[in-house]
Amino acid sequence: MRIISATERPEGKFTLVTLSEDSLPPRVSKQIITIGIGARKEMTRRKLVLIPRKIVSVAKQHRISRLALNLADFRFAQLKDIPPEALVALIAENLELAHFEFTKLKTAPKEGWAQVAEVAVFAKKQDKSLVERGIRRGRIIAEEVNACRELANTPGGDMTPSVLASAAKKAAHGTKVKVTVLGPKELKKLKMGAILGVSRGSEEEPRFIILEYQGGGKGAPIVLAGKGVTFDSGGLNVKPGDSMYEMHMDMSGGAAVIHAVVLAAKLGVKKNVVGLVPAVENMPSGSSYHPGDVLRSMSGKTIEVLNTDAEGRVILADALTYASRYKPRLIVDIATLTGAALVALGQHASAFMTKDPNLIPLFMELGEESGDYVWPLPLWDEYEEYIKGTFGDVSNLPSSGNTRYGGTINGGMFLYQFAKEYPFVHIDIAPRMTTIPSDVLAKGAAGAPVRLLLRLIEKF
Ligand code: BES
Ligand code: ZN
Ligand code: MN
Repeated sequence: MRIISATERPEGKFTLVTLSEDSLPPRVSKQIITIGIGARKEMTRRKLVLIPRKIVSVAKQHRISRLALNLADFRFAQLKDIPPEALVALIAENLELAHFEFTKLKTAPKEGWAQVAEVAVFAKKQDKSLVERGIRRGRIIAEEVNACRELANTPGGDMTPSVLASAAKKAAHGTKVKVTVLGPKELKKLKMGAILGVSRGSEEEPRFIILEYQGGGKGAPIVLAGKGVTFDSGGLNVKPGDSMYEMHMDMSGGAAVIHAVVLAAKLGVKKNVVGLVPAVENMPSGSSYHPGDVLRSMSGKTIEVLNTDAEGRVILADALTYASRYKPRLIVDIATLTGAALVALGQHASAFMTKDPNLIPLFMELGEESGDYVWPLPLWDEYEEYIKGTFGDVSNLPSSGNTRYGGTINGGMFLYQFAKEYPFVHIDIAPRMTTIPSDVLAKGAAGAPVRLLLRLIEKF
């Protein structure tokens, strides 16, 4: 899809899109698409971003391939805090997000995939350059989010740890991001017993992917650590029934980290950022790690494995320890960590936890602004008792009581044990791993929270 700026309504093959104050279903003709958006004075940022998505979805349904949008229609009095350039960026970003579909593995229908070829955004002549800058920013953001979705959608049989590492190199190609990939030998040397332990059951070797972006001189970086489980069968505690469905997306946190770092570089953000992605496949086999095993992590702390299906926190432990060598300003880990986060929040927001009270409102704001909505859970000292090991220093599940209680907090509390020296935020993106119909996006990976991470890098 090409998004272009125009100074007047383009003639000819373009279908004009108009917004109407009703709540009727879209009305579509070759000349005009009318989208009902309800009362203009009730528009919110959250509703606004759905409009471009709806437009693309309707255009695709009707195989309309050239659209013209009037920027003035998207100005709402109560949303004055969105500057015009940011508004254009939001429109462009959401057009592109809605246009994405994972079709690589499907045979195209005879008439081809429905696609929108071109969208013209028209505005006053004096706004032309801001419209162009907004389009560029929105497009670059959406391209990285979509690339993240592409990685996460790729089946587990195709997306192995080594393939994920190659994908990181490919994503960073031509940017200022330096990618280093460590294999089993280097992991052994670094004493990353946690990552090595989880990966033992798989025929696929583990990888530790490091992305370094120096956009801002000598200052301490933000370190992002993303869970890269390329398939989560549960291991010897094999997942039951249909719980294994979609577990090829258990590397969504890793994919988000890869593309957030690359995105910061592509936008030339003047900050230093490091991305760390421990990548493993969690499989049952004769060489798997066992329930009851005690792994020695890179930190020296031992991890008692009470359940091999709580593998994400185990591999991230080593990544968080590795992070400290950068003396980071902030460490954020991103992981599809717990089904319990879905129980708590449904599929509308990721859960996040931090000890730093100032970071709570900041992350909520970044969430609202980016569209990657997040909601906090506590990380109180009291919860530490749940992750005390019996035969190891920490356990990956509570060793007594109901292991289902506070599942998401336990995951955060476990990770916090390995990140006590620096400001730390844990984001459990399991709720936002896949899209839901109200997102008005293609079924599959949602690409969260790449857009939140970009805002974090820009603002923190
Ligand atoms: N990857 C899963 C969590 C998950 C579930 C993500 C559903 C997205 C959708 C994680 O590794 C896992 O298996 N968690 C267990 C933890 C339990 C064993 C403490 C879970 O949520 O059941
Ligand atoms: Zn997992
Ligand atoms: Mn698991």
